[in-house]
Amino acid sequence: MYSSSSVSKGFVLYAIVVVVTTQLMLVRSVSSLNLTNSYLQHKCLVSLGKYKPGSDYEKSLDDIIQSFSNEDKNSYGYRAGFSMSAYGKEPDMVAITYQCRIDSRGPKCQSCVVTAGYELLRKRCPRDKGAIIWYDQCLVEFSSSDTSGQINYDDNFCMPSAKNLIGNSIPLEERLHLLNNLTKMAVTKIDKNIEGIKKPVLYAAGEKRLGTKNLYGMVQCSADLSVQGCNECMLYYIVHFQKCWKSKQGVRVLSRNCNFRYELYPFINPKGPYYTKF
Ligand SMILES: *[C@@H]1O[C@H](CO)[C@@H](O)[C@H](O)[C@H]1NC(C)=O
Repeated sequence: MYSSSSVSKGFVLYAIVVVVTTQLMLVRSVSSLNLTNSYLQHKCLVSLGKYKPGSDYEKSLDDIIQSFSNEDKNSYGYRAGFSMSAYGKEPDMVAITYQCRIDSRGPKCQSCVVTAGYELLRKRCPRDKGAIIWYDQCLVEFSSSDTSGQINYDDNFCMPSAKNLIGNSIPLEERLHLLNNLTKMAVTKIDKNIEGIKKPVLYAAGEKRLGTKNLYGMVQCSADLSVQGCNECMLYYIVHFQKCWKSKQGVRVLSRNCNFRYELYPFINPKGPYYTKF
């Protein structure tokens, strides 16, 4: 029954190789569009101090994350949740803020925020009153005060791709143009998800043809920033980390209030919201 000629063995092997390669190609194209949601970075803000395990403070953090998991209707993608806890003698403020990438609003946002929140609370920064964690699709911040509207210049990361650019096919100037133009769009396009008040979406993604290559970019500010704040934050971070990414094929720059990314491959679905083909 199991006897087989070398011909059929060869065929089976061929078939397996074809199936596996096709699967790998599928996985690659999906992951390059970032339909996955990976952990990127975190920072424990030790200067804000510690809370005691089992304290009201910890319970409040837990409660706020829990409340985020219940709000399925929030399609806005940003929220700051506060709670006062009587920890020790002085009442403490417990704050959690999250910001999702605009094309991940809805259920993806909720699951990202809950995963990220518990990751900070239980694994990455247990007992730290302050912490920030970045995922592909969201960032979550713990704080003991209201941080909204202020630009955080201290907690940030530059994550360059390993590969260097070859030659001058993608000049720095072009990358800066794309990031600046995306920032302009981010602060002018009106958010379609908010009814009533006209508020800029503070997010934009797009691509631009440069010779034989495409350059893909994305910029986002947190919803608590004003237009001016978003411009300031983007300007600062585009300049601040330039040494880190100038010679690289791609980068993600992460901060509490604004983020950007560019790559030579697509990482945002072009059919998603606020996407421009230049
Ligand atoms: C962006 O703006 C600059 C001028 O500021 C322009 O030269 C460039 O072509 C624009 N477009 C893109 C996609 O970079």
